[in-house]
Amino acid sequence: MCGIIGYIGSRSCLDIVFDGLKRLEYRGYDSAGIAVLHDRHISITKEAGKIDNLKPFLSQLPAAAQIGIGHTRWATHGTPTKENAHPHISDRLALIHNGIIENYRELKQELQDKGVTFRSETDTEVIAHLLGQELKGGTHPQEALMRVIQRLEGAFSLALITDQDDQHIYLAKQGSPLVIGLGQNENFFGSDITAFVSYTQKAVFLHDGECASVGRNEVKLWNREGQELPLKTTVLQWSPGSADKQGYRHYMLKEIHEQPRVISKTTQAFAPEGVLNHEALGLNSIQLEKVKSIHIVACGTAYYAGMVAKYFMEPALGLPVNVELASEFRYRDPLLMGQGQTLVMAISQSGETADTLASLKLAKDKGCQIFSICNVAYSSIHRESHGSILMHAGPEIGVASTKAFTSQVLCAYFWSMAAAEKLGRLSAKDKEARLQELKSLPLYMDQALNAEEHIAELANSLYEYPNFLFVGRGPNFIIALEGALKLKEISYIHAEGYAAGELKHGPIALIDKHMPIVAIAPHDAYYEKTLSNIEEIRAREGFVIGIGDEKDSRLRDLSQLYIPTPKMNNPYFQAILATVAVQFLAYYIAIKRGTDVDQPRNLAKSVTVE
Ligand code: F6R
Repeated sequence: MCGIIGYIGSRSCLDIVFDGLKRLEYRGYDSAGIAVLHDRHISITKEAGKIDNLKPFLSQLPAAAQIGIGHTRWATHGTPTKENAHPHISDRLALIHNGIIENYRELKQELQDKGVTFRSETDTEVIAHLLGQELKGGTHPQEALMRVIQRLEGAFSLALITDQDDQHIYLAKQGSPLVIGLGQNENFFGSDITAFVSYTQKAVFLHDGECASVGRNEVKLWNREGQELPLKTTVLQWSPGSADKQGYRHYMLKEIHEQPRVISKTTQAFAPEGVLNHEALGLNSIQLEKVKSIHIVACGTAYYAGMVAKYFMEPALGLPVNVELASEFRYRDPLLMGQGQTLVMAISQSGETADTLASLKLAKDKGCQIFSICNVAYSSIHRESHGSILMHAGPEIGVASTKAFTSQVLCAYFWSMAAAEKLGRLSAKDKEARLQELKSLPLYMDQALNAEEHIAELANSLYEYPNFLFVGRGPNFIIALEGALKLKEISYIHAEGYAAGELKHGPIALIDKHMPIVAIAPHDAYYEKTLSNIEEIRAREGFVIGIGDEKDSRLRDLSQLYIPTPKMNNPYFQAILATVAVQFLAYYIAIKRGTDVDQPRNLAKSVTVE
């Protein structure tokens, strides 16, 4: 959601900034822009729509410029037009912003009363003019930035260039992510590391309230009070090529295919040689013995991963586990026990989701222990937590989450096993059996991926239906929810997931021969019950697409279309295999409908505003 990239160095900045914008495309956006500083003159180009719309205008920017900032905007205040796109300008400066300024109306009024004319409907332009007024009065850019951010309420990461200073770019962070990449005689910054990871793997993560000046050879950091801070450099683990498509048509397809490898890496990290690694699972950083209840908070697909986790975590630990949407949790005054008795666990791929982060902060203020499962190291959620697990999924670029979901479920599963072990609730025999099956999961996953061609074929007869239902029981109820979410977000088809046992309480009224129902029913403890529900669907002429065991003739006979999955004993691993089927189904239906699979309309990969 909004992306920021910047470069200062001794090379031409145009390609670097443009390339950075393309790498940030996945975050979701509806307009883009670039500003460069050359010979003490600022030049800007910005356009609504795709980043490529900027291409014809790049030649109008000075090719020799070595200082540049770029922005992808996801509209919040004001429609996605060229005028509202960033950079915004004021006297002698250009500014880009990620976040929301909550008190922008008052500030705008104040500026208008002073005769300032606004060119856009954005909250960002207010910051540009406040800075412009400071600079006009002769204030040094660093001081101007410090003064202005004290007047802003809300979340922001900002980057400012001014013709008063052709040696630095100025940055500020509050609430929205910002990270600096350190190079040789050149420096970069971005909303996340994908913006510059192909140039450098040395990074400095800004914290809330911090400002920075970024020069070619030096980076300075200072806090709200103006005190200079030491630079804490982190060496990034993601390799430069890991954020590329590697020959796949879409990132989403590549990421679906990466799942067996993600599972192997996860198992290697958390249970090398059959021993659960309590340190890597964050258990050494929390006081588990104090915990009386667990709240999992997350959004979207990560929330569904939490819902699957509840099924295994509660019996494993003998503790109540509540799973809640972070956007609800943070505003409803939840009953939380202080002194570390409630453990609040955030699940987030990006580690930057605004509602999830706010939920953690709220829980922290109430004296809970806070824990997170994140894919992005040093993300805000990761840094906010007392204990954490870092997923081993690698960068997820496709907006629709696939490998991150699998990885989140597995991380929660490992955590749950290790926590049970620590509480004396996991027998050696049980552990051994589970780890044994986990070892074979990547192989089964590979087999599940073999269904790709068959599912692509099925999509030909499904893509024109306007509505879908997905049903399942137990963990596969959650996979039904996830399957419906995947389908609606990338194909724009209306889809709903239901617990199969809930059909009779309302949704069965929707069923007729025009309604495709994806029914997930592997041979597990819920099988017979789900099959009865499927019989009821057929009795009403519903169009059943079954997902079940390869050898299951009963479900196959009940289904008009069938997607076989390999058979595993553990119901959660089996549910992961069914996930591959719903991911492919959504993907190939979207392909048939010709949608933008990796960047579906209106969506952002990292939802940094609430
Ligand atoms: C759906 C999807 C979203 C995210 C949600 C949370 O495919 O990707 O629903 O799961 O926005 O994002 P994170 O995990 O980054 O907190």
